Amino acid sequence: MRLEFHRYRLSILINLINLEEVKMERYYFRRATIDDLDILLELNNTLTIDTWTMEKFQQAFEYEIPILLIANSSNVTVGCIIYLFCLDEVRIIYCVVNQTFRNKGLGTKLVNEVLLEARKSNARYVLLETRTTNFPALSLYTKLGFRIIHIRQDYYTHLINEDAYLMEYEL
Ligand SMILES: CC(C)(COP(=O)(O)OP(=O)(O)OC[C@H]1O[C@@H](n2cnc3c(N)ncnc32)[C@H](O)[C@@H]1OP(=O)(O)O)[C@@H](O)C(=O)NCCC(=O)NCCS
Repeated sequence: MRLEFHRYRLSILINLINLEEVKMERYYFRRATIDDLDILLELNNTLTIDTWTMEKFQQAFEYEIPILLIANSSNVTVGCIIYLFCLDEVRIIYCVVNQTFRNKGLGTKLVNEVLLEARKSNARYVLLETRTTNFPALSLYTKLGFRIIHIRQDYYTHLINEDAYLMEYEL
């Protein structure tokens, strides 16, 4: 019993140390190029649902859609966000953080960077869709100030059919 308790305390301590390391770590943003296709596919493979095909990424490069990568100081790419400019709106169409780096503030960094870009471009709104049961995504966006403005019925058809929340951030 005592041993179990010590193990439990030790695991909490290790988690705290890991979290501190992530907080202290420096992260860098860079725009992806076609040479990053393998990196993107690797990140994409950490998803269990709503994955993109290679053709979809290639198309994004073809149309010069911004693909932003976030990497740590060891140059390991840990996340990616893809967004579109459309008149006075910016649309986030893809956002992923590598599974082992989740819940450490990197999703927040990615979305904040897009909000910054949106402000620079004088956009008025940032919009996105998310599954109604995607709680990590929902709490990330809600925490940042997005609000649900509409429900799109049967929006998702990949693996699990589901509605989407359309969420908006007013700049
Ligand atoms: C959604 C996603 C990008 C969030 O990235 P992340 O780096 O884990 O996000 P953050 O660490 O910045 O977390 C931000 C907030 O989200 C919430 N959150 C994150 N992970 C969570 C989880 N597993 N359960 C509940 N809430 C969670 C927390 O409220 C957190 O705020 P806090 O740290 O102040 O408590 C990531 O989970 C992911 O890649 N998911 C798979 C792809 C996906 O669903 N993308 C979104 C499509 S719309």
